[in-house]
Amino acid sequence: MQLPNLKEAKVRTQKEVVTKTNDYIITHDLVELGRGRQYYVKTYGCQMNEHDTENIKAILEDMSFTEAGSMEEADLILLNTCAIRENAHNKVFGMIGRIKHMKETKPEMMVGLCGCMAQEESVVDEILEKYRWLDVVFGTHNIHQLPRILKEAMVTKKLNVDVLSIEGDIIENVPVKRDHPYKAWVNIMYGCDKFCTYCIVPYTRGKQRSRKPHFIIEEVKELINAGYKEVTLLGQNVNAYGKDLKIDYTMANLLEEVAKTGIERLRFVTSHPWDFSDDMIRVIARYDNVMPYIHLPLQSGSNRILKLMGRRYTKESYLELFHKLKQALPYSAITTDIIVGFPGETEADFQDTLEVVKACAYDSAFTFIFSPRIGTPAAKMLDDVSLEVKQKRLHELNDLVNGYSRKANEAYLGKIVPVLIEGSSENNAEMLMGYTDTMKLVNVTGSKQFIGQIVPVKITDVKTWSMTGEIVENA
Ligand code: 5AD
Ligand code: SF4
Repeated sequence: MQLPNLKEAKVRTQKEVVTKTNDYIITHDLVELGRGRQYYVKTYGCQMNEHDTENIKAILEDMSFTEAGSMEEADLILLNTCAIRENAHNKVFGMIGRIKHMKETKPEMMVGLCGCMAQEESVVDEILEKYRWLDVVFGTHNIHQLPRILKEAMVTKKLNVDVLSIEGDIIENVPVKRDHPYKAWVNIMYGCDKFCTYCIVPYTRGKQRSRKPHFIIEEVKELINAGYKEVTLLGQNVNAYGKDLKIDYTMANLLEEVAKTGIERLRFVTSHPWDFSDDMIRVIARYDNVMPYIHLPLQSGSNRILKLMGRRYTKESYLELFHKLKQALPYSAITTDIIVGFPGETEADFQDTLEVVKACAYDSAFTFIFSPRIGTPAAKMLDDVSLEVKQKRLHELNDLVNGYSRKANEAYLGKIVPVLIEGSSENNAEMLMGYTDTMKLVNVTGSKQFIGQIVPVKITDVKTWSMTGEIVENA
């Protein structure tokens, strides 16, 4: 049993990151383990987790498991969890309760928990105390060891907890089963060293480790050959890419090299305002295949709160960057993340946030109430803002950002924009759906023959979170 350790999780040494190209091993005894059994992976949280699930699925299929259509049919259920806020945590424990009932009628079913919550000491303590009927718990650093971890649990028929609290290496030979045939996630870095005071990620995902450029370029080229149209470069803080490599190579260099592969659409998330260089802005402006969409988390508009958050920029420097981006990329959509109710946030601090939102008129914003995460510095700060006030601020903020989202969408009415048609619309099987270059969701009327293609779409109606349009043929 290897348990997570908060103290070890925050250690950052000078130790060089090792790139391992043959650490994922699937020996013949592991290949047959899943034969005749079905798996179901439920994913919570961010794109990083979604992409990890794509790795987990491929590993399980290497072990001859097949994917179940629903949780009820599965012989193995894995919950790939998120630790970012308390409500993600509660959802997972709610789901575990539901699964316990399923297990009563299906005792042979195996159940596991992985992802960011598995890296939390407090979560694993709770599991050891109350949920010993689970079969496996593994973390974000040892996904590639899943076959061994599962086998041990199958043999011993006991809960196997295997979580590493380490800075982390890079494992390059993990297989992937992509969810989508036209757009793909490509990790460019793992972990985060920013240690924003509210954030659990540096503890659950380890040290910032950039993948070597040639592995990334190779992956993108393979995706192009396989017919992919869109690649999203993934990292907690992509603008800091390369800073940990011992070569002179930045995110701007990587973005340019990936753009030159000729992939039709290139995106990247998430940017930290602190590391956004002029070189990057130049590359985004210069290459048509780098999409005019930037996610630029603000978190707060108050300098006092930004300082307490450890964000290392001010409202003024953020606004300067924002305007620089808009000037260089006038057509671009810019979105953000905002936290309200950080410990000690006053009405004046909150008004500063609203002021920045008004100045930026974001295309959309993800808004959250501060959630204390055990082990982070902010969790120890005096949180004297009542829940009622936090909720009131969230509502006020949401009303403001929703108004701007709608306005931003209204500017598209009657325009013809490029949309990558992904498939049928979720709510209406008669319609198609896809995203514009600026990452706006569009429900589209048109022939299914266009699925997988980037086509011109005329926008005929807009709502706050989506638009409607029709494919313009022979445009
Ligand atoms: N409480 C509330 N929101 C948080 N986020 C990260 N940590 C917390 C927390 N402890 C938000 C930030 C981040 C987004 C992914 O989640 O806004 O950008
Ligand atoms: Fe968390 Fe800050 Fe790192 Fe983003 S940059 S993952 S908010 S610590």
